[in-house]
This record gives sequence, structure tokens and C-alpha cells, in this order.
Amino acid sequence: MTAISKARLVCPKYGRFYLPPKELRPCGDEFQDDKFYFDSARNEAIRLRERLGLSEKSSVLDVGCGVGRLATGIIDVFGEIHKYRGLDICPCYIKWCRQFIASEHPEYQFILLDMYNERYNKTGVRADSGINLSFSDGEFDIVYLYSVFSHMVKEDVEHYVKEFGRILAPEGKVFITAFIEEGVPEMTINPENYRLNWNGALHCVRYDKSYFERMLASNGFILDHFDYEKETDGQSGLYISKIG
Ligand SMILES: C[S@@+](CC[C@H](N)C(=O)[O-])C[C@H]1O[C@@H](n2cnc3c(N)ncnc32)[C@H](O)[C@@H]1O
Repeated sequence: MTAISKARLVCPKYGRFYLPPKELRPCGDEFQDDKFYFDSARNEAIRLRERLGLSEKSSVLDVGCGVGRLATGIIDVFGEIHKYRGLDICPCYIKWCRQFIASEHPEYQFILLDMYNERYNKTGVRADSGINLSFSDGEFDIVYLYSVFSHMVKEDVEHYVKEFGRILAPEGKVFITAFIEEGVPEMTINPENYRLNWNGALHCVRYDKSYFERMLASNGFILDHFDYEKETDGQSGLYISKIG
């Protein structure tokens, strides 16, 4: 990833917000357009309000927050909420979020986790024996991962889902986007002849739907709703609840 300190990056202003430099914006090419980027940020906040009950009283964990797109949307739609924590493994993203979002909205906090990922953090620590997030049991109402499991291997996905079971409140909800298909191997990295020409480590990690639902169930979750291929690059949206 681009080192933010080395580049002369332009952070465009959009109304009262700074937007991330185009070089730092993850997801598809459409996010290069400022209006698209900003509208998408708002739409994510509205999605969480309408589908997962996000309100001013909610506590939200944004795993793989990138350059804080969801945080920007929540600030615009709600102002303050009870708690927002953005977590990422990429130092340049967290640095940008702290400098351009948290500096103006200190209640929005961004946390760097030094975890290995072949695409985003090759020098990070491997989570072979699990992930212990530094959050209390039942601390969050909503966990959100947009285009994150789509770049993560099965073992890490399973570690995360297990940990979500601990840090979510009893009625907690999860929204994720992922490449999910029926009747494919449990996990395929950069599948050929599938949607785009994938290049580079973990550009696309695709999962089998039955495997994914079994994995959720074995960690105490149920898939409430599945929106097939409606998200960036043809990812699907998964609306998930913690059981009891
Ligand atoms: C395609 S970007 C999406 C960013 C953001 N969610 C958005 O929608 O704008 C994927 C993000 O996942 C992060 N990521 C990858 N592996 C991760 C891990 N194991 N834990 C937390 N974040 C991770 C990357 O650093 C990157 O910021």
C-alpha cells in the first residue's frame, strides 16, 4: 500500500469533510469519483440504520475500516453515536483516519492491529492460534466488514467470526460483503474466469455459500438475508444475527 508520508497526496474537500486521496481509496474504480465516494459513505450509514437498527445509542465496530468511509457516512447522517471503533491492519489508512477524521471527531477512534495479511500487511503477526481483540465481551451492537473477508483467508475469517461471537451483545448484528457462490470449493483464491481479472495476493477470495453458513452456525450466528452480487465488484451482502 502507498506510504502516506512519502507521497504528496491531495485530500479533496467535500462539503465539511476531507475525503481520502484517490491513491488511498480502496474498492472499485467507481470510488475514485468524489460524489460517488461520499454518497456511498452515507448510504452505508443509512443501510445500517434501516437494516440493522443503527441509532445514536449504538456501538459499532468497523473491521477493515480502510480510510473511514463508514465513519464519514455515520458522522454525516447521525453526528455522534454511542461508540464507533474503526480497526485496520494497514498503518497508512489508520494514520489518515486519525489525521482527517478523529482530529475533528475525537469520539471516532481508529485502532491499528498488526495482523498478517498477504495483500495488506506482509510484516504483520500471523493469527495462527486465534485473534484476541482488545474489546470487552458484548461491547458492540453491530460489526461491519465491507470488502474485507473478500481479501482474507479462511482461517482468519473463522478466527474473526469466533471473536465476533464474544464481543457482540446478545442481539448483535453483523453485515459483511464477500464473494459467495453456490457449489464451489470452500475457498478459492483469485478464481479464474470469475468476474474480473484478479491480480496480486488475495485480490479475490471466494467462498462457498454452504460452507459459509455452516461456519456462521458453528459460531452461533444465522444468515438472515443474502443479497447476491449487489455490492462492489459483484460481492454479495450478508445480513447476520447472533443467536441468543
Ligand atoms: C477493500 S478495503 C475496504 C475498506 C473499507 N471497508 C471500505 O469499504 O471502504 C479492505 C480493507 O480491509 C483491511 N484488512 C485486510 N485484512 C484485514 C484484517 N485481517 N483485519 C482488519 N482489516 C483487514 C485492509 O487493510 C483494507 O483497509
